Amino acid sequence: MSTQGQQFAFYDLHPPMDDITAEVRSGMLESPKKLSPKFFYDERGSQLFEAITRLDAYYPTRTELSLFDAYLEEITQTIGYHSCVIEYGSGSTLKIRKLLQALSPSAYVPIDISKDFLLTSARALAEDFPALDVFPVCADFSQSIALPPQTDGMHRVGFFPGSSIGNFEPESAREFLARVAGTLGAGGHLLIGVDCKKDTKTLELAYNDPEGVTAQFNLNALVHLNRVLKTDFDPEAFAHEAHYNESSGCIQMFLRSLVDQRVDVCGERIHFGAGELLHTENSYKFAPVEFGRLAASAGFDIQKRWLDSRGYFGLYLLRAR
Ligand code: TRP
Repeated sequence: MSTQGQQFAFYDLHPPMDDITAEVRSGMLESPKKLSPKFFYDERGSQLFEAITRLDAYYPTRTELSLFDAYLEEITQTIGYHSCVIEYGSGSTLKIRKLLQALSPSAYVPIDISKDFLLTSARALAEDFPALDVFPVCADFSQSIALPPQTDGMHRVGFFPGSSIGNFEPESAREFLARVAGTLGAGGHLLIGVDCKKDTKTLELAYNDPEGVTAQFNLNALVHLNRVLKTDFDPEAFAHEAHYNESSGCIQMFLRSLVDQRVDVCGERIHFGAGELLHTENSYKFAPVEFGRLAASAGFDIQKRWLDSRGYFGLYLLRAR
């Protein structure tokens, strides 16, 4: 606690527990079969993703961090101090730490669906930034969220790094951004990292690293599923694949069944033909003009935009109209 009396308050908006059994089952009945990307992030999955962010082939994290290092001063001059920073989904705390350091906001509101993870990282940040009020909110950020009343009247700055916007389907991305614009209010800022379209080879290498970490990450979703739903997937009977679909502008992640097999999914025997694909995630890429259009259609103006010298990744400072 600081001498000014740092505030820390937890808001549990009780995001409804998904019926994951029903969700997984219905995904298995689709064609092609699909599995929700939320199964990537158990403890081992989070560690594997950390390892992905350090791979030579996976340029997004490193490129985004270099943009922060180069432009956080300019970002701070544009936004000003003493704002309320709202982080949508908290991953590794490296990026938010850099931002809090630069902006010296008055309040920080991390929003995440995973309560334990949210509270642990929010407490650690509160301890390291003793002048900062911290109000973690447990909620599903794809829904509308009421911000803690303590932040009323503060200038609001949303933060959504890592090109996570690319993991929404295009229409959901627009809806999400429009909701964020509503939460921030007219004049509120959104600092968002967006991966650019580029040559297929570079993109596919980022999602098919030669070390095989991404393959382990994708396959770990099956291990996670086996543990929480008592399914009996054999991870060795599937292989990771990622392809850039140029017409839709997205990397598509799959697990390909290596043999003809049946898997027990909550009492139902699900058939996988040899070579059949299970779709696990999309990662949309945006040319700067495309992202500009998306942001505009969701009620934002682009105030500033920074790209690295190769044009691989974009950092955008948007302002809600
Ligand atoms: N949000 C990350 C991205 O789209 C997720 C990710 C990176 C990922 N590598 C992956 C998801 C491999 C599935 C498989 O870049």
